[in-house]
Amino acid sequence: MASQAKPDPTSGAPAHGARHVAIIMDGNGRWAKKRFLPRIAGHRAGVEAVRRVARAAQDLGLECLTLYAFSSENWKRPASEVADLMGLLRHFIQSDLDEFHANGVRLRIIGNYQALDPSLVDLIEGAVARTAGNSGPIIAIALNYGAQDELVRMAQILARRVAAGEIAVEEIGIEHVDAALYTADLPPLDLMIRTSGEQRLSNFMLWQAAYAELYFTDMLWPDFDGQALAAALDAFRLRDRRFGGL
Ligand code: FPP
Repeated sequence: MASQAKPDPTSGAPAHGARHVAIIMDGNGRWAKKRFLPRIAGHRAGVEAVRRVARAAQDLGLECLTLYAFSSENWKRPASEVADLMGLLRHFIQSDLDEFHANGVRLRIIGNYQALDPSLVDLIEGAVARTAGNSGPIIAIALNYGAQDELVRMAQILARRVAAGEIAVEEIGIEHVDAALYTADLPPLDLMIRTSGEQRLSNFMLWQAAYAELYFTDMLWPDFDGQALAAALDAFRLRDRRFGGL
């Protein structure tokens, strides 16, 4: 187990201090290309990385790990690749749910997953419901997620609340916005990781990342593992977070 998992003797919290880590899992296609393999092979290897990193997140004492699995922009990919990704997701839930449940993991989804195939929606909702009563870490999977869509949805929720007379326009504050996002009951985001050398947020958790630390690595997602997560948390531990103060 990595050093970060050692609890602080006074509080029991892990020494790295992070509660919620989000990852933009990028580079599956390039990983496959380097090996003269089809893109699906990169995505399959990406699922293996998801398994390793989900286990490591638990060992490292994270409360929540959010993974960007399918963005609202990923529909622009060829239909065959979209179908491959949906198939991998379906298979992943079917094959790994028992282990997650046995480990006390709570599975959550952020994004407009209801727009997916109805049988996948049923599978997802069953998995979320089955693990909802667990008390271990949250694994949140972002599916058909886009931060701009999430913010539009938030504006609509708040506008409806104003129109219904529940709150006055002047009363709307940060806490109302937080409560109207998909992430309402997740811990605040501490660290955002992106693999594959790209340095942008690509419409992922834009509001939630306001004070998150950003960590970019050249490693391609299928090569990422528990040691790489521990290295990111080591870097996080050394950051000086001031939240706008001194
Ligand atoms: C980015 O690589 C990755 C994705 C768009 C999908 C991520 C999906 C997985 C890791 C597998 C499914 C997830 C779960 C939770 C079962 P890319 O294809 O954009 O890579 P490239 O930029 O090198 O082409």
